[in-house]
Amino acid sequence: MSEMAKAALDGKMIAREVAAETDLGFLWDFWYPAMKSDEIYGRNLATATLLEVPLVLGRTAKGKAFAMRDACPHRGIPLSYGHFDGENVQCSYHGWEFEACTGRCVEIPSLASGDKLKVERINAGHFPCEERDGYVWVYMNAPGTRLPEELPAAPELPKFSEKFKITRLECDLPSHVDQGIIGLMDPAHGPFVHQSWFWRSKKSIHEKAKLFEPIANGFRMSKHSPSTNSAPYQLLKKMTGEPVTTTIDFVLPNMRFEEIRSGKLWFSSRATVTPVSRDLCRIDFVAAWNVPIPVAIFRMFATVFLRQDQVTMIQQAEGLKHNPRLMLIDDADRPAKWYFALKQNLIESRRTGAAAVHPMEGPVTLRWKS
Ligand code: FES
Ligand SMILES: [Fe+2]
Repeated sequence: MSEMAKAALDGKMIAREVAAETDLGFLWDFWYPAMKSDEIYGRNLATATLLEVPLVLGRTAKGKAFAMRDACPHRGIPLSYGHFDGENVQCSYHGWEFEACTGRCVEIPSLASGDKLKVERINAGHFPCEERDGYVWVYMNAPGTRLPEELPAAPELPKFSEKFKITRLECDLPSHVDQGIIGLMDPAHGPFVHQSWFWRSKKSIHEKAKLFEPIANGFRMSKHSPSTNSAPYQLLKKMTGEPVTTTIDFVLPNMRFEEIRSGKLWFSSRATVTPVSRDLCRIDFVAAWNVPIPVAIFRMFATVFLRQDQVTMIQQAEGLKHNPRLMLIDDADRPAKWYFALKQNLIESRRTGAAAVHPMEGPVTLRWKS
């Protein structure tokens, strides 16, 4: 028997296919935000790409969001060119119809009465879909694998009072998701990239020591009082007369949560970096708060911030085109090292079935200047 045939028999082929997919550096079997909830309405079909998978999204007449692979299983034309009646998506080419929420084929118009083709066995491919915080989350299971019996809950932004304001911002980054993520957790670029009169100046740079601890699938910058060189924190302290504390979590595959509390006032945000393709990712930033700050004012500042990161990443992509050698230094790049290790260990644990090893043995203090 040929090596290939043997490999196919003992299931190694599937493992190899999965390995080929992971070579793009994507983490499958997680929820990713595909678009904002208000982008799917009526009987419109919207499109998105996640992890290089083209998706068609919409909302059924009953209000349930759905995501199907945006390719007809007959000849591959995107189903998004088709017609949606509130329940089924009809392909624009030969009119095959698919149930939107399951992807199951329900109609092939060309079949003659005696035809034996089992229509219901044809599937366009669907992905589980949930809406949280105004986003449509799609569970991206690895190609060629079955969905787990029980899915993890879709991520949700923590909120700490009944009433709050909430806003969402996004921007595209022309780079691989890994670069976007390590940029997100990089403490040393602040004084250079985010210099603004309202935030801080380059002169305010000083040495910091922050405690980090391991958490499930990630790490936490333990609860601490944020640096005194940032104006908004000083303002918050003045408002409540109580200490300000911040906690920052990074959780696989791509989420950074930040929680700022002072007395009854709170601010909570989440940034996710979602892989669209191998050289494009998108930051989705959602923030909620009960601090007396109008949404418009917050958006103005946050837009400046995001734009600063975006410009930097566009410039970085220019350099990365030539495949330069890169380095990660201690301690400022240690979070980036943890990210790569967490990711690698997770892939390894999925391959072997053993529990994932956490790269941190316990709490550790990192020191850097910023
Ligand atoms: S290509 Fe879709 S029905 Fe033929
Ligand atoms: Fe930044």
